[in-house]
Amino acid sequence: MGTVLNRALTAAGHEVVVLTRRPVGPDEVHWDGRSPGPWTGAIDGSDVVINLAGRSVSCRYTPANLRVMMDSRVLSTRVVGEAIGAAARPPRVWLQMSTATVYAHRFDAPNDEAAGVIGGTEPAVPGYWSYSVDIAKAWEREQERAAAPHTRKVALRSAMVMSPDRGGVFDVLSWLARLGLGGPVAGGAQYVSWIHDHDFVRAVEFLVDRDDLAGPVNLAAPEPLPQRAFMRALRTAWRVPVGLPATRWMAEVGALALRSDTELLLKSRRVVPGRLLEAGFAFTYPRWPEAARDLARRRRGGRRGTSGPVRASTG
Ligand SMILES: NC(=O)c1ccc[n+]([C@@H]2O[C@H](COP(=O)([O-])OP(=O)(O)OC[C@H]3O[C@@H](n4cnc5c(N)ncnc54)[C@H](OP(=O)(O)O)[C@@H]3O)[C@@H](O)[C@H]2O)c1
Repeated sequence: MGTVLNRALTAAGHEVVVLTRRPVGPDEVHWDGRSPGPWTGAIDGSDVVINLAGRSVSCRYTPANLRVMMDSRVLSTRVVGEAIGAAARPPRVWLQMSTATVYAHRFDAPNDEAAGVIGGTEPAVPGYWSYSVDIAKAWEREQERAAAPHTRKVALRSAMVMSPDRGGVFDVLSWLARLGLGGPVAGGAQYVSWIHDHDFVRAVEFLVDRDDLAGPVNLAAPEPLPQRAFMRALRTAWRVPVGLPATRWMAEVGALALRSDTELLLKSRRVVPGRLLEAGFAFTYPRWPEAARDLARRRRGGRRGTSGPVRASTG
């Protein structure tokens, strides 16, 4: 997502400084994601801070991985908050990544920010699923408690961002679909929430500009859909006629082979953008079939472009 945002913001003429553990280019500054250092100079005087740091969640949920998933998010958020709090010229706004996974596994109704049910106590789901919710809650709590009185704080409860970039979630799902494996998983009734990369960038711009919006905001297209229908539309976009169904057990084996976890496939994420819509944000891609068609076209053509004017960002 940093790549997607950096590309769009740089193209729009903004000066983007990237904090990374392995700086390469001239616009990249070293940090370790947990302790203060010279990097705080990049925050002081910036207009906007966007913190995306966090160990990938696409991994086996071993105790060691879960610990790094938690620490990389909580500690980076803490140290960003401290840097903003200590800045002589603090940024106007701090967009902090969070996740739509904070909401409960449910089928009956969509989760918006006002009436949505926070997860962690659902019956009949594997106990360890609550850990992802705990991470999300701890992540948001860290931003809330940061002493940054001159900076507007927004938590981005983002659904899966679909972009044509290699290695992203759209790439992986497209690969499965093209192998003929893009069928329903465990019945396919579980909802998939998603957002097109173009709308993700536009939503970030919108939240930067709208001084009246603070706190948690869902970044998800308004029409999440069951996984069965989601994969059907993806297959149509790739013109693949069939997708073999997979049982829960087959999903376990597949997740093991891909060094990932079945929670990512089986949790029903039914999340809608209540606050964005209320604030007047219009999605360019509100529906998945059109979004999938656009993404597949760009993937085939090797084009990755998104657009959008924002300010400087960090993360
Ligand atoms: N992609 C999605 O659809 C999606 C949806 C909702 C939420 N999110 C969240 O949004 C953030 C960005 O997502 P992404 O897909 O762009 O993830 P990503 O490609 O895995 O990038 C996350 C970045 O975090 C940094 N990082 C990783 N492990 C770290 C650690 N132990 N300590 C400090 N920094 C570490 C890395 O930057 P360096 O290697 O440059 O230091 C890495 O590039 C993540 O926190 C993710 O959970 C993503």
